[in-house]
Amino acid sequence: MDNQANLETAQARIAEAPDPAALAALERELLGKDGLLGQQLSAIPSLPPAERGPAGRAANELKTALTAGLQARATELAQADLARDRAGVGFDATLPPPQVERGSLHPITHVTRKLVEVFTSMGYHILDGPEVELDWYNFEALNISADHPARDSQDTFYCDEKGSLVLRTHTSPVQVRAMERLTPPFRLVCPGKVFRQESTDATHEHTFHQMEGLVVGKDISVGHLVGTMKTLLRGIFGRDIDVRLRPGHFPFVEPGFELDARCVFCSDGCRVCKGTRWIELLPCGLVHPKVLQAAGIDPDEWSGFAFGLGLSRLVMLSHGIDDVRHLLGGDLRFLEQFSC
Ligand code: PHE
Repeated sequence: MDNQANLETAQARIAEAPDPAALAALERELLGKDGLLGQQLSAIPSLPPAERGPAGRAANELKTALTAGLQARATELAQADLARDRAGVGFDATLPPPQVERGSLHPITHVTRKLVEVFTSMGYHILDGPEVELDWYNFEALNISADHPARDSQDTFYCDEKGSLVLRTHTSPVQVRAMERLTPPFRLVCPGKVFRQESTDATHEHTFHQMEGLVVGKDISVGHLVGTMKTLLRGIFGRDIDVRLRPGHFPFVEPGFELDARCVFCSDGCRVCKGTRWIELLPCGLVHPKVLQAAGIDPDEWSGFAFGLGLSRLVMLSHGIDDVRHLLGGDLRFLEQFSC
């Protein structure tokens, strides 16, 4: 068969291609390596030299003609498709729409946002700090010296040989960074991730979330601390909840406390409060004068309170979650239960 006959057969097949998929298959067949054009091209090197030029030109003309034919048929098919759509062919208004899967906030994000809302309404700034922290901010400036036993309770991930860079074990270093930068009076909270080198089990996780709170001003007292905590609880639970203070020891606060809240789940003892009717809410205290001083604030002029709210703990308490590892486990079956 000569070139012209080949071209005519090919153009006839193109004109009959019923849909874009068939047209694409035809394009591969005609223009591909083993197709009509490919065969012509691969035959050229074995032709006598005088015939190679004309053969090359003929192959090029064939390619141009086939490409134009394919293009024209593609346009025709697209127009026919559009005309069918416009005429409403194949459209069924009674079909159910495709399911849209709605995502939801992680419970930690949800509680963080709620708390941020409560604290902003009380005039607090929201601050952020580095997760890879200098030993100075994580420990030293918080009155936790290298040989202080408090370091034992915060098993640390060290990031360098010298031990001067750590993954922060709490959000308290942000206190120091904030005091260095801000001029009193100020109030702030800092939500964020913290890390401890723990063997993980139902109550221990290497990564969890805290929210640090810090207020520095004139004559700040334990009364301000208690009042703020009650406002916080009212913001979260929508009603007044009693609190009590027990002594607690943290080197960067003096005096230091553990603040308990009345159990919100029962009136006469339950599994969550272990029958005591009190729930351990957070550690807190008045900022130690040495910590103020280390950050360049005069402790004779200013005082403050600080607290460290365990966000992971709060989420577990309020949803009755019994294993902390669920929180960052990434299991969708767990996460899909929260539609907040
Ligand atoms: N940073 C302490 C911890 O994680 C908690 C804390 C914060 C205690 C602020 C007192 C004041 O253990």
